[in-house]
Amino acid sequence: MSTLVVVGSQWGDEGKGKITDYMAQEADVVVRSQGGNNAGHTITFGGNKFALRSIPSGIFNPKIKNVMANGMVIDPKQMLEELHGLEARGIKDYQLFISNRAHVVLPYHQQLDGAMEKFKGDKKIGTTKRGIGPCYADKANRIGIRIADLIDPIAFKQALKDALTIKNMELQMLGEKTFEFEQIYDEYSKYALEINPFVCDTSLLLEEEIEKGSKILFEGAQGVMLCLDHGTYPYVTSSSPTGASVPLNAGIAPKYIQNVLGICKAYTTRVGEGPFPTEIDGDIATYIRERGHEYGTVTKRPRRVGYLDCVSLNYARRVSGINYLAIMLLDVLSGLDTLKICYAYEMDGKIINTVPASLLEYEKCKPLYIELPGWQEDISKVTSFEELPINAQNYIKKIEELTKTEVAIFSVGPDRLQTIKLKELF
Ligand code: GDP
Ligand code: IMO
Ligand code: MG
Repeated sequence: MSTLVVVGSQWGDEGKGKITDYMAQEADVVVRSQGGNNAGHTITFGGNKFALRSIPSGIFNPKIKNVMANGMVIDPKQMLEELHGLEARGIKDYQLFISNRAHVVLPYHQQLDGAMEKFKGDKKIGTTKRGIGPCYADKANRIGIRIADLIDPIAFKQALKDALTIKNMELQMLGEKTFEFEQIYDEYSKYALEINPFVCDTSLLLEEEIEKGSKILFEGAQGVMLCLDHGTYPYVTSSSPTGASVPLNAGIAPKYIQNVLGICKAYTTRVGEGPFPTEIDGDIATYIRERGHEYGTVTKRPRRVGYLDCVSLNYARRVSGINYLAIMLLDVLSGLDTLKICYAYEMDGKIINTVPASLLEYEKCKPLYIELPGWQEDISKVTSFEELPINAQNYIKKIEELTKTEVAIFSVGPDRLQTIKLKELF
């Protein structure tokens, strides 16, 4: 048995999908254990580009068991659309397993997500409006509906009736449209029939795989700085994307977590609101945004762009147990004369080496930078570390030094082939 956890080490969109797909070539099982279709994971190979949202990135390999585990929130309508979309593009031979304990995203969750954002006005989170927060809130509030309930007509009827009574009251209070029981029940009962063959106890499945000695890859969604517990609360998502959350959200023992690979852009991006100390505007930001196609996979929003922040990266390493890094989109930085890396913050005249809990304090943090000379060469065809221009090599070495973490992979383009592995991870 061997396990590898892929964790976003920044504010999401680091290239987790690409690395999961790449590492999946060596894996037997790929598990998504948290989040839902707020994720957008891009995978490019053989001239094809796919954007996955809730389906694990191992789906392209018929030998891989793809698991949607108990910690996920699943929108059955969207998930089936995603699956049909893949089938229409020839991905028909796949193995998919959906946890009977995962929670179901229903239309009132999306309605409430949008309504809460409207209600918050300029304090909005900038959510993906996929109903993720309201669904996890119902789970915590013990009025959620699980996949096991959805696929049992009697349980679904009762659970939906109970939930809808409360949800319609909330919607009314917010001046929003309410929902009819029959409409949701009839529509979602059809989805239930379609997903039923995929549903099982995925914790049991994972135990069997562990006993068989399989290689299991956990595909994180979002990023540590968006973690409900450790991120820039309240500007976060509603689940935990850390390595520590994997055992809980997949139903396995903590002792089975081995390597945790932090996926990290060579710079930083963020979508949605919230603090971002190394954010930049102007020509360099535009240069990076355009070269990196920094527009949301799910919402198409332009991503906010900034320099690499090794304070938040170190913080992510600590709270998430990251022991290797994958440096992504290194090619995007070609052509810049000078590169900056934040090594500490300054707040009220003090040097800060970690992420403060208070948002007011975090907003006051000014990044302190070291400057490194950039490189002009196109590096998108590089196949080894030694082929990189010396300044690009030094950039990677500086990240290793500042984070005390070995870089195991670097990536020089979106394609599967534009990936250079420096270390065996399974
Ligand atoms: P995820 O959510 O972490 O899976 O990341 P996204 O797919 O949302 O965003 C990453 C974007 O960067 C996608 O458009 C990828 O195709 C692209 N990408 C990944 N690695 C590289 C790379 O090394 N170079 C370039 N230029 N693009 C990359
Ligand atoms: P992947 O897996 C980037 C952000 C949203 C918003 C906040 C809360 O592709 O990296 P939510 O809809 O989850 O309640 O939104 O979290 N967010 C992401 N940002 N990548 C993601 O996923 C994200 N998933 C959520 O923009 O700021
Ligand atoms: Mg993404």
